[in-house]
Amino acid sequence: MENKFLVQAVRGMNDVLPANIAGWERLERVTRELFAAYGFEEMRLPIVEHTSLFKRAIGEFTDIVEKEMYTFTDTGGDSLTLRPEATAGVVRAAITNGMLRGARLKLWTSGPMFRHERPQKGRYRQFHQIDVESIGFPGPDIDAELIAMTARLWKQLGITRVKLKINSLGTSEARRAYREILVAYFRQHQAVLDADSLRRLEGNPLRILDSKNPDMQAVISGAPLLTDHLDPESRDHFDTLCAMLAAAGIEYVVDPRLVRGLDYYSRTVFEWVTDALGAQDAICSGGRYDGLITQLGGEATPAIGFAMGVERVVELLSQVEEEPEPPSADVYVVTAGERAQRAALGIVEGLRDAMPDVTLHVNLGGGNLKKQFARADKSGALLALVLGDGELERGVAALKPLRHEAGQSECALEDLADRIPALLVELAGSPEEL
Ligand code: HAM
Repeated sequence: MENKFLVQAVRGMNDVLPANIAGWERLERVTRELFAAYGFEEMRLPIVEHTSLFKRAIGEFTDIVEKEMYTFTDTGGDSLTLRPEATAGVVRAAITNGMLRGARLKLWTSGPMFRHERPQKGRYRQFHQIDVESIGFPGPDIDAELIAMTARLWKQLGITRVKLKINSLGTSEARRAYREILVAYFRQHQAVLDADSLRRLEGNPLRILDSKNPDMQAVISGAPLLTDHLDPESRDHFDTLCAMLAAAGIEYVVDPRLVRGLDYYSRTVFEWVTDALGAQDAICSGGRYDGLITQLGGEATPAIGFAMGVERVVELLSQVEEEPEPPSADVYVVTAGERAQRAALGIVEGLRDAMPDVTLHVNLGGGNLKKQFARADKSGALLALVLGDGELERGVAALKPLRHEAGQSECALEDLADRIPALLVELAGSPEEL
């Protein structure tokens, strides 16, 4: 029955529960080590920025800015937005913290992003990105290195069902010229354009190429290709990138229709896609944004980056990995008697100091011995430490192996920190005969 007093989570925003955390932690650990090995440094940025930052960086006529931003006016009257992506914030931070000045920056950041999209599997309103940006490198060597780093990541994670798509969008001048050609072409076929595409014809005609509308596929496949209108430097840049990827043994597909949904790109764009997740198939995408830094008020600096969707990569990981066991305790602490219960915390905290590698779970919430031993059994612990009023008075505690025939033994309180680790090693090493 529906409970009208129950407060639900916001649509499209998910809880990550303990049963699902292992994949997140694995991805976080592997990327952190991999990025460090390639010379990238972490930075942490605000979730909220001025709305104007995203309007200027991502583009007024993109889906993100037109209809997906969580924008609000704060009590001071400023228009603020929950970040829909990380690149704009990284560039803003590099400029405002004086990090540019001819520097070569290799940065990464991560966290939640917000887009008011229609939620479905793999597409959420709060989702997480791990984002990497290289600022101050004209490429194409860094373009190739970034892609090689992502290819290595999939290898390290055991993810195989992925394919790399690349394209070049040329310089913004070349794109402007191509845009005219494209608009002229679509105007000739205006009758078959849907409402979305008609709207995009003025603001963002390249995005029409991305349309999934089946009725428009014929007109889209007949459209002139940006690849045929690249400026010579961009052509060179792209050819060298392709040669470098081939030399590194990284397979790719050139997709002339890969245009990306953000306006700041120039030259190289790329996307890793998978056939294992359904419609939301992009797990990691990015590209070069040589014009963005000047556009946001910084000195002209070339840059390239990418972001991966954490939820999507974790979902892929869950397909290649066994469900992990919940963490089990080494020692479960059982108490018998009121005084023992009161003394337990102090004794256990002392043991935690003395044996930092041993996991102790203390019985919480009381219960008779039978109940406590049942919990001890469920915790996976090899050993129970039994603290009883009588024993404590004599300065001792009992140690009872839980998964072996061996009987209970007594141990002086001051010897516990030596005896427990030694006993755990014995118990783990020889299962039956103890
Ligand atoms: P993007 O393609 O918009 O690029 O997003 C990057 C990745 O975030 C996507 O490939 C996808 O895996 C994930 N993603 C995007 N939207 C959602 C969503 N609603 N739910 C779940 N996952 C999602 C950018 O954001 C650029 N800032 C990437 C970049 C960095 N370019 C240069 N530097």
